[in-house]
Amino acid sequence: MKKIGVAILGLGVVGGGTYKILTEHREFYRTTQGVDLEVVCVLEREKSRIESLGIPKELVAKNIFEIVSNPDVNVVVESIGGITEAKGYVIDALNAGKTVVTSNKELFCKYSHELERDARRMNVGLYFEASCVGGVPIIRTLLDGVQSNKIYSIEGIINGTTNYILTRMTKDGMSYEDALAEAKRLGYAEADPTADVEGFDAAYKLSILSSLAFHTKVPFANVFREGISKLTREDIDNGRGLGYVLKLLAVGKETERGVEVRVHPTFVKSTHPLAGVDGSFNAVYLTGDSVGEVMLYGRGAGELPTGSAIVSDIIYASTHDGNRYSTFKNTEDADKDVKFVTDFESAYYLRLTVTDKVGALSKITALFAKNNISIVELMQKSLDAERATVVLVTHSTHEEAVKNAVSRIDASDVARVESVIRVLS
Ligand code: HSE
Repeated sequence: MKKIGVAILGLGVVGGGTYKILTEHREFYRTTQGVDLEVVCVLEREKSRIESLGIPKELVAKNIFEIVSNPDVNVVVESIGGITEAKGYVIDALNAGKTVVTSNKELFCKYSHELERDARRMNVGLYFEASCVGGVPIIRTLLDGVQSNKIYSIEGIINGTTNYILTRMTKDGMSYEDALAEAKRLGYAEADPTADVEGFDAAYKLSILSSLAFHTKVPFANVFREGISKLTREDIDNGRGLGYVLKLLAVGKETERGVEVRVHPTFVKSTHPLAGVDGSFNAVYLTGDSVGEVMLYGRGAGELPTGSAIVSDIIYASTHDGNRYSTFKNTEDADKDVKFVTDFESAYYLRLTVTDKVGALSKITALFAKNNISIVELMQKSLDAERATVVLVTHSTHEEAVKNAVSRIDASDVARVESVIRVLS
């Protein structure tokens, strides 16, 4: 039987889950896949992690060189995260002729051009299913399942931490601060939650997914990004009254205007399939020219779901001849022929504080009309003796037109724009 030696770098949540699955399912894979996957070494500084997984001492390597020079190692799993150590270790492994499986979205998003160049040169595999949406097999779906399609769009809830926070704010009336504190307590959010709540994590994933979906390099720098840290319960409640649910949505599209990639809070109609994706769950909804709409739903993080993606990659690498690389020119920057749309089209929700006096509303609506923005719904409620809150939703319009209207309203003597949230049309 074919024997594959696996080394795991980093035994945190993801590496630990990978170790558990590999050891607990070893016999199952021997029977079902005809391959014997054996963890032959690990790299981890924290003794407690090694002990809690019950890993024999002799499997613990002193450094990366012990691992990459070990002829029994065929596949190196990188589950360290970040760039500092991980990048050098992955490059060392590839250049030593080892296939690499990584869960590192930031590394893959920023450096896949370098890593893939080394993998091609050494004729080894480079797999990254676990880098995007944890246990949800979206990479394999794009590479295999829907490869016959021209993909028009990907819309996804691809960050569990923010989805958990928004769900608690929406369903249980929690404030952003309380929901974030709870997410930290439950281990969904990191001590420093910036990468999740400011949309970096989702933007790394969207850069990778869009590159695969649209067969062109979509660098992280081209992804428009806005996080959830400034959202208020008031807007969530107003949106709910209008039949919307607020989500941090990642949107990638390819249209005649070019490639459009953005991560931002978005109101989704409560009847849309993504509206029901709650808590730490993730989902990706894609549209292809032949298949139509496909939605994948599942756990985007966690030791066993992410470990599931890693071990599936190890099995794929072990049971397929040849290696699979990008179906696009994987360079550092985007191809210069590709246009990125920044003045994207969307419907918008706006909340304004308006001075409650004669003609105020007509001044505001005139400013929208001047920018060719058509209003679908408008509600006003009194705030105090002198001011009112106005909430409105526009028809589909252009980002630039909305920015322009907002700056004109803010400069007027009748109103201030408190929030602007895009609405999935
Ligand atoms: N922090 C991520 C999330 C999981 O909350 O979805 C790893 O990408």
